[in-house]
Amino acid sequence: MHDEYHDRIRHPLLRERITSAAAAAALIDDGMTIGMSGFTRAGDAKAVPLALAERARQTPLQVTLMTGASLGGDVDKILTQAGVLARRMPFQSDPTLRAAINRGEVMFIDQHLSETVELLRTGQIAPVDIAIIEAIAITESGAIIPTTSVGNSASFAVLASKVIVEINLAHSLALEGLHDIFIPKHRPQREPIPLMTASERIGTTAIMIDPAKIAAIVITEKSDSCSTNLPADGDTAAIAAHLVAFFEREVARGRLTERLMPIQAGIGTIANAVMAGFIDSPFSHLTMYSEMLQDSTFDLFDAGKLDFASGSSITLSAQKSAQVFGDIGRYKERLVLRPQEVSNHPEVVRRLGIIAINTALEVDIYGNVNSTHVGGTHIMNGIGGSGDFARNAYLSVFATKSVAKGGLVSSIVPMVAHVDHTEHDVDIIVTEIGLADLRGLAPRERAALIVEHCVAEPYRQMLRDYVAAATLRGGHTPHLLEQALSWHIRYGATGSMLVPAVVNTTVAAAAGCQTGL
Ligand code: COA
Repeated sequence: MHDEYHDRIRHPLLRERITSAAAAAALIDDGMTIGMSGFTRAGDAKAVPLALAERARQTPLQVTLMTGASLGGDVDKILTQAGVLARRMPFQSDPTLRAAINRGEVMFIDQHLSETVELLRTGQIAPVDIAIIEAIAITESGAIIPTTSVGNSASFAVLASKVIVEINLAHSLALEGLHDIFIPKHRPQREPIPLMTASERIGTTAIMIDPAKIAAIVITEKSDSCSTNLPADGDTAAIAAHLVAFFEREVARGRLTERLMPIQAGIGTIANAVMAGFIDSPFSHLTMYSEMLQDSTFDLFDAGKLDFASGSSITLSAQKSAQVFGDIGRYKERLVLRPQEVSNHPEVVRRLGIIAINTALEVDIYGNVNSTHVGGTHIMNGIGGSGDFARNAYLSVFATKSVAKGGLVSSIVPMVAHVDHTEHDVDIIVTEIGLADLRGLAPRERAALIVEHCVAEPYRQMLRDYVAAATLRGGHTPHLLEQALSWHIRYGATGSMLVPAVVNTTVAAAAGCQTGL
């Protein structure tokens, strides 16, 4: 029976567990916690969640769904529309799910990506009942070989009571050997993660579990969803140019060599474009110690700039995907995919001296960063791994365009309406206007630098006025608390942060109440 899959399911008895997606989904009961593979649209389970949604349309049921990060294939959308999601963690980027979260219909836990399985392992959150893991193959001993991401799959499979494996024939067996599965021990037996460079291997190439836990195997043949990054534009090119010039100055001052330090680049259009900016830079023999590897990683390989890339997933555009996965042997020796608790581990990030480049929705005059909540209330995607890296990095960079929504929103505001990364975790702010190096500066010095270097007019003048008025009131970190969020309030009320006349009165107003705060 099912002999045709002997290269994909090498444990002969497990071939007897091949079943339909609907039969596998029937193992899931109302109220269960599901741990599913998938990290930034890569390596996600593609059939069982859709069968679960189909079942829920007939017989309503709800689950808690944990993944590595965001899913592709509209899975989050379809599960949301079928009413399956009671709770979701630790990251998402789907517009339909996002809207349901913001309506309060799905409880979303926005979590540092390195932390989810630590909380599971120590019993601090509800245990995983069933893990659903996409794989290229199952070994002779029943170990699971993941596809294009590792994410949280290893610990989900180890900690779950039952495991459903989706064997995806669309992924080449040539991916075998790409993964490095290392799972930290329980405390107090915990040891240091023995990674001294980005390129070392410290674990196994497959997820070792008791094969008796594999309750169902579903055969699929569907590619990963492509990345949704937009092409680079003039602004992202300018951001990249400012950063490259900054790193050149750091090299000239002897703080960095031309290899820089291992680089982490965050999710999205801006981070991808910034990395692509290194192609025409003077730097060479670069390494990446990141979580998501995007098109720019492979462009840097092809340009001869990058020696090695460590990540937790590979998420590519359609064109790049065909090129890279069609010829993965060309890159394989220079790549490794790790569990996200290792790729994002604070201990390793600090030890390796990572240059972390992440994207902000908005930044305030003192360097606090909001990466997640539009207007302070409405989730966009989530903090992802940005906090894992930013707090522990050698150098923590946040990039953003200086304005959003066609100029109606300033990305630099008096006070961020939600804080993901505090001023203490942010070294560099860069926009298309310029770069502010905040290292070693006090709040008043930081404000002056950010306003003059990173802000477009007319917001620059509005912020100068705000800073001047706040400074008259005094304080280590001066603010006009009654006006600090007025830009957000104005945007909510009028659709624009722009009302210069109102802001210009603040200097005079503040001058009259210097002792007020
Ligand atoms: N207020 C309101 N909306 C804003 C905004 C602001 N200050 N700044 C940006 N936006 C909107 C844009 O208009 C755009 O909206 P659209 O999709 O409706 O067009 C959207 O946010 C994305 O912005 P964009 O400029 O295209 O940047 P991006 O694709 O690089 O994404 C983040 C930026 C912040 C949303 C993204 O990087 C993110 O989710 N970061 C948090 C997670 C993270 O950093 N992970 C890193 C490790 S993986």
